[in-house]
Amino acid sequence: MSEQQNPYFRTKPLATILEESKEKKEGLKRALNAVDLTAIGVGAMIGAGIFVLTGTAAKEAAGPAIMLSYVFAGISCILAALCYAEFASRLPISGSAYTYSYASVGELFAWIIGWDLVLEYTIGSSAVAVGWAEYLGQLVHLPDWLIHLPLQMPWGGDYHINALAGIMILCLTALLAIGIKESAQFNSFIVAVKVGVVLFVILAGLFFIDPANWHPFTPYGPNGTACPEGAFCWDGIFTGAALVFFSYIGFDAVSTAAEEVKDPQKNMPIGIMASLGICTLLYIAVAAVITGMVPYQEIDQGAPLAAAFGSVNLDWAKTLIGIGGVAGLTTVVLILLMSQPRIYFSMARDGLLPPWFARIHPKFRTPVNATILTGLIAATIAAFAPMEDLHHMVSIGTLFAFTMVSASTLILRYKQNKTDLKSTGYVIAIAIGLGLVSVGFMADNNPVQITLWLLGSLLVTMPTWKLLQIKTLNLPETFRCPWVPWVPITGMACMIFMMVQLSQAAWFRLGWWLVIGFLIYAFYGIWHSKLKRNE
Ligand code: ALA
Repeated sequence: MSEQQNPYFRTKPLATILEESKEKKEGLKRALNAVDLTAIGVGAMIGAGIFVLTGTAAKEAAGPAIMLSYVFAGISCILAALCYAEFASRLPISGSAYTYSYASVGELFAWIIGWDLVLEYTIGSSAVAVGWAEYLGQLVHLPDWLIHLPLQMPWGGDYHINALAGIMILCLTALLAIGIKESAQFNSFIVAVKVGVVLFVILAGLFFIDPANWHPFTPYGPNGTACPEGAFCWDGIFTGAALVFFSYIGFDAVSTAAEEVKDPQKNMPIGIMASLGICTLLYIAVAAVITGMVPYQEIDQGAPLAAAFGSVNLDWAKTLIGIGGVAGLTTVVLILLMSQPRIYFSMARDGLLPPWFARIHPKFRTPVNATILTGLIAATIAAFAPMEDLHHMVSIGTLFAFTMVSASTLILRYKQNKTDLKSTGYVIAIAIGLGLVSVGFMADNNPVQITLWLLGSLLVTMPTWKLLQIKTLNLPETFRCPWVPWVPITGMACMIFMMVQLSQAAWFRLGWWLVIGFLIYAFYGIWHSKLKRNE
């Protein structure tokens, strides 16, 4: 082969990826069907977002219009999910966004995404485990030290250890190390419990709705100011969308289990789209019911669903929702913990991480080393770290990954051959343009806003026009994302727009995280990559 690839952009051929997964006789066990996958998606999604964050988002960001925030975030995720579904049916192997970018954009991007997904999966599981411990503490009486054990550091400063959250993660890690099918059965049972509780909230809540609570519908204007009487303000809706985006995190976890799925080309798209569709409808309905039951200023920020029923004196319902919350958060942590090792596994198989991460247990056939390491790290973070800010960090990391998957879908469709970087350049320009337009929406100063919009629009339209001139190749035979390039570009726009709504601190942490990742790649991955060795 005379074509020489730039090391940062060397891509893994689709055929090699598929071949590798077939060759592995000792590979992961194919045991999951479409229903298991849908349960995995729903299990990963319904959790702290709907059970906890809805309260803050409705009270402080969007008011009753939180239902539209859920619609916006849901549609954005559906756009990204269509790209995920196309990739998942093309490449039915573990690795999620990481593998997809490896096949399209190139090794450096793939590495960055794999590294970025640690924010989603490991930090996400720690954050939700802390919420779980708090929720359990509200449901049953627990000794305070179990959740808030005070610790004095020798160098000064008071810390609180959340031992319960750490123990919970370690128990789920043990379950995951034993086997995927066992974990999937456990998951399906708990998912049924929490979907039942969410349906109960919707149906029982209908009887307590007072439509007067939906007025004013959009109480918040720009930067949290009051929306003028009678006006319709979109600002709060979008701020709310960035907050409740957390509720949708997890549908992509379906794709990390691809190598354990029977007939993945058919079942993966079904699992991804069905779980996302179900959750979107449930979330919009719950948001409508809760804001209809309680005036938005009085919505509880800790346990909004349970408290809404407490406010209408249905204490037994409050307990029932508490049980649903604990069950709901348990499966979220389980799925996030299940997804992370599978990313490590894929990265190690490609040589970007040491082979130790790819070891499969001879009896249980699970990626045991990576599973245990993930559990230990997540348990430590859950026990020691204050989690509030980490919600933002998890969201920004996930939005970044979803943007990359949408971009990768475009690149792969328009790429003419292995060394062609033209479509990569156009798509990067589009992403930068969308970033400028989004930042323009946040700018207070008119000339700055107009400059950003002009420059941004130019950067979006020119390369899009160029892309439209290129013939699309690599059409997948199974599931295809419709209306390419419009669906991936709109998906990218929504994701980038929500990223811009998140705190500066979250951007700062994402930046540092990516720098550390880049250094690891520069000192290890680039030298040990299997593609480099093959060259
Ligand atoms: N979507 C998950 C949750 O809301 C992360 O807990």
